[in-house]
Amino acid sequence: DRIICMLFGTCQTFLLEWLSFLVENEKISNARHKELHFVKTRLQDAIRKKLKNDFRLDAFGSSENGFGSNKSDYDVFFRYGNDNYERSSEMQIQTIINIEQALRAARFSRVMSITTAKVPIVKFAIRVESGEIEGDISYYNELALHNTQLLKRYCSWTKDETLSKLGMFIKKWAKNCEIGDASKGSLSSYAYIILLIHFLQRLPDPLLPVLQEMGEKRTIQVDGWDVYFCDDEPMPSWSQCTLSVSELFLQFLEYFAKFDWQNQVVQIRQTNKLTKIEKGWKKLMCIEDPFDLDHNLGSGISPRMFAFIMKSFVTSREVFFTLKEREGFVRSNMAA
Ligand code: CTP
Ligand code: MG
Repeated sequence: DRIICMLFGTCQTFLLEWLSFLVENEKISNARHKELHFVKTRLQDAIRKKLKNDFRLDAFGSSENGFGSNKSDYDVFFRYGNDNYERSSEMQIQTIINIEQALRAARFSRVMSITTAKVPIVKFAIRVESGEIEGDISYYNELALHNTQLLKRYCSWTKDETLSKLGMFIKKWAKNCEIGDASKGSLSSYAYIILLIHFLQRLPDPLLPVLQEMGEKRTIQVDGWDVYFCDDEPMPSWSQCTLSVSELFLQFLEYFAKFDWQNQVVQIRQTNKLTKIEKGWKKLMCIEDPFDLDHNLGSGISPRMFAFIMKSFVTSREVFFTLKEREGFVRSNMAA
């Protein structure tokens, strides 16, 4: 028994060290930012050769929101320069196909358009000095630019990068557990960051405010939704946070292992609880997008996947908690 316990402990210690090492080493670097800038220029040059109209490309997602790693993909929007973009899905698909042809002609690798998804995209890859960067171009979706800014604001709330590390760690953990890929029926990285923000807002001593309720509230309409959030309040001092990244991670696991998924909706836009009945939502996992309030980020989760995700939360919590109790290892190795 003792030998099995020791082996088990060693494996978990190794896993934890490994995850901690990855997060530390994968944090998006200045060199990576330069490479992404280079990729953007290459994309612009390629598309300019094919499309006559004036256009622009904007990066969003993890390269911009503070939760990015050197291995994250590169999410880019295409839009026509005069902002008078075409909303018909036929035109969007045609534009995506034109971009696909432009990237093929410019010898990007693994170029492939996916026009059957809710948002049509062109996938691509390109070699850079540090290896290969994968990315995708989608048609302009202004809401995603706003939610990227919202996440960035939350991410920079902590002066010592606690939140950025925790977010990267959770994305890594979810991908390792095979529950962090929306294209395979689980949850997107974006959804995990929403879960994280929700959890930090609801700690007995909240570590994050509810930015959409703060400040001089006014309505800013984008695509029919209110994208207001407070970004002019001074940053608070982080010194009140006495919890380490690993302790927060454990509490995160516990919070969602015990979450009332049957009745409640996970959301980050209001302090008050929100029920499925209020939303009229019936899915097993309800995670509300902060701006597009009709968008449930958990709508694609099957009962089987739901059970699998829950098992990952419960089992990981047991494993990491046992480890913490037994060795006091988590605190010493992963403290921010
Ligand atoms: N997004 C969205 N709605 C979704 C999924 C994603 O609006 N249901 C937008 C968000 O702006 C998000 C971006 O797409 O920031 C990228 O999503 P995703 O790839 O899931 O997250 P990343 O932060 O880019 O994570 P990763 O490092 O895994 O690429
Ligand atoms: Mg991404």
